[in-house]
Amino acid sequence: MGQTLPKPGLRPFLPADTSILAAIFVAAIQELTGDDYSEAQQEAWAAIADDEEEFGKKLAGELTLIATLRNAPVGFASLKGKDHIDMLYVHPSAAGQGVASALCDALEKLAGGRGAKSLTVEASDNAEPFFKKRGYVAKQRNSVTVNGEWLANTTMQKTLESGGQA
Ligand SMILES: CC(C)(COP(=O)(O)OP(=O)(O)OC[C@H]1O[C@@H](n2cnc3c(N)ncnc32)[C@H](O)[C@@H]1OP(=O)(O)O)[C@@H](O)C(=O)NCCC(=O)NCCS
Repeated sequence: MGQTLPKPGLRPFLPADTSILAAIFVAAIQELTGDDYSEAQQEAWAAIADDEEEFGKKLAGELTLIATLRNAPVGFASLKGKDHIDMLYVHPSAAGQGVASALCDALEKLAGGRGAKSLTVEASDNAEPFFKKRGYVAKQRNSVTVNGEWLANTTMQKTLESGGQA
């Protein structure tokens, strides 16, 4: 099934990464979420990155990790506080290659290092099976407004091993 990509590298976010992460964010929403969300919902969701300065501030205000393949960013994830995964996006060209898994492994370890006993995420409908596979349990269905559109997601929670070891 296609070519095997090498294991992604991981590094912290730098302000200069903002534009490329905004592009990954938009591409991931446009190409990977169409089975679960309407075009209007996808547009409203992707428009969060229209204001790149704000988007960069949000990434810088959280613990944001970037996954790279051959030194090029292909995905990113952010930890808000010690125990909430805020963002997780992978470029469609690198999807299904373990990039999100590598990012989540790292965030779960970092959360454990910050003393978190569990991690939560508001999982999009397309990401729910990914989190379920990793041991996250659905707690609550939500409807949120994003740029004037209602989007459904699910609050999911995973209990971390003691000390966040993985
Ligand atoms: C969800 C997302 C981050 C997954 O990224 P990815 O790099 O393709 O995920 P991985 O390759 O690490 O997948 C790990 C496992 O989860 C499974 N998986 C990933 N996405 C899945 C999906 N949509 N449906 C079912 N299974 C899925 C993979 O098949 C894989 O299973 P395996 O270990 O048995 O091979 C990516 O699809 C994405 O960016 N989606 C759009 C943005 C989004 O909704 N983000 C989440 C916000 S909370």
